[in-house]
Amino acid sequence: MDKTIYINDLNDTKQLAETIGQYIKRGTVILLSGDLGAGKTTFTQFLGKSLGVKRAITSPTFNIIKSYKLDDNYLHHMDCYRLEHSDEDLGFDEYFNDYDITIVEWYNFIEEFLPKEYLKVNIERIDDSKRKVSIISEGKQYEELVGVL
Ligand SMILES: Nc1ncnc2c1ncn2[C@@H]1O[C@H](COP(=O)(O)OP(=O)(O)O)[C@@H](O)[C@H]1O
Ligand SMILES: [Mg+2]
Repeated sequence: MDKTIYINDLNDTKQLAETIGQYIKRGTVILLSGDLGAGKTTFTQFLGKSLGVKRAITSPTFNIIKSYKLDDNYLHHMDCYRLEHSDEDLGFDEYFNDYDITIVEWYNFIEEFLPKEYLKVNIERIDDSKRKVSIISEGKQYEELVGVL
């Protein structure tokens, strides 16, 4: 299933992240794409906050993976930009598990390690604050999620 959502400002991005945050289950994988500055990290910050992350979520470009504690699991935030010319496995299997929530920026660089089911969110910059967000679900759990958006 897919859906396109037009966003006018940061507050719309926040609302979308909060809605998704409200419906995601344990084991959810969200794959983010879009140019530099499109809003992938911003979306993740809003989503993390809505899930209860207390620490400030910052871009994991240099660390590649940062993990934030939730109640009894983790939110993993990856930025695979630096893996463009690498086929290194950073132990991705451990992050794509049944209980944690994992969000990946630049997932195209770790295509061979991705799970079969996921929510893909592409963010396209229209102008300073407007975005076109294209959402694709793969798998039943994710179809239900797109259904409520
Ligand atoms: N509607 C919007 N959604 C997301 N980011 C927005 C929006 N409007 C403006 N911005 C700004 O665009 C920038 C997006 O940066 P960032 O989230 O780091 O992008 P990316 O992670 O995709 O490179 C931020 O400075 C953010 O404040
Ligand atoms: Mg980013």
